[in-house]
Amino acid sequence: MASRAVLAIANWKMNKGLAEAVAYARALPALIRGVRGVEVVVAPAFVHIAPVAQALRGKRVAVTVAGQDCHSETKGAYTGSVSAGMLCDAGATVVILGHSERRRDFAEDETLLRAKLQAALDARLRPILCVGETLAERRRKTTHVVLKRQVEGALDGMADAALGGLVVAYEPVWAIGTGETATADQAEEAIAFIRGALERAIGASAAAGTAIVYGGSVTPENAAVVLAGANVDGALVGGASLDPESFAAIVRRLATIAAGRSVAPVGRAAYNRRSR
Ligand code: 13P
Repeated sequence: MASRAVLAIANWKMNKGLAEAVAYARALPALIRGVRGVEVVVAPAFVHIAPVAQALRGKRVAVTVAGQDCHSETKGAYTGSVSAGMLCDAGATVVILGHSERRRDFAEDETLLRAKLQAALDARLRPILCVGETLAERRRKTTHVVLKRQVEGALDGMADAALGGLVVAYEPVWAIGTGETATADQAEEAIAFIRGALERAIGASAAAGTAIVYGGSVTPENAAVVLAGANVDGALVGGASLDPESFAAIVRRLATIAAGRSVAPVGRAAYNRRSR
């Protein structure tokens, strides 16, 4: 039986000005005081990482800061890009990689993401690798094919990723920003499948210890249901994370789930049952 971290990750995407970002960072710790068993992460825009990290420093409630992306190289002529080391310097300890918006807008593929993952691990940043199928892929019943390619393509043989605190985020593209959340069964089924693919990629014990979170229209109202599956280790939240009260409510729901949980991974069984 594995004990895995439960995470609540706020992805602010390209939202908030400096004053609003800092005000949020100052407000959040008090809103989640007393919460146990949940690692809380906020991902501001690059330019707000340092002031947000500064505002969170020294608080009794730990909230860590993530970048929303990093470059695969450590330095060089890459105009507009930010390296993993720069994120660390600014106060981030986590980085989100392969978000579907970046896959869509910047044509990020598994080869590039593999290099970014390595860059993150080399800089001692904890990587959150996002995977997920589009609506067309789900309708074509190729969800498992897509998830397998995304997980194995980025992580095959990267056993050290687990040591680096790897998190995988299952974010079905059709659920992002649409208000259409996956059902609890859909989230659990896909995440159990991802855990099976992870076993292939990085080995059974590393896969069993890797947190896999769900993202896609999570709100305080649906969190308790959507995130209840045995393989679901928390949430990556977009829209509902922009308000600190709303994000704090999701953190509290996750704390209740974490408190009641005993984990029995079913990844291999789900992976072998490749019906989709
Ligand atoms: P929403 O919660 O707004 O659907 O966004 C999810 C997401 O993309 C988080 O990374």
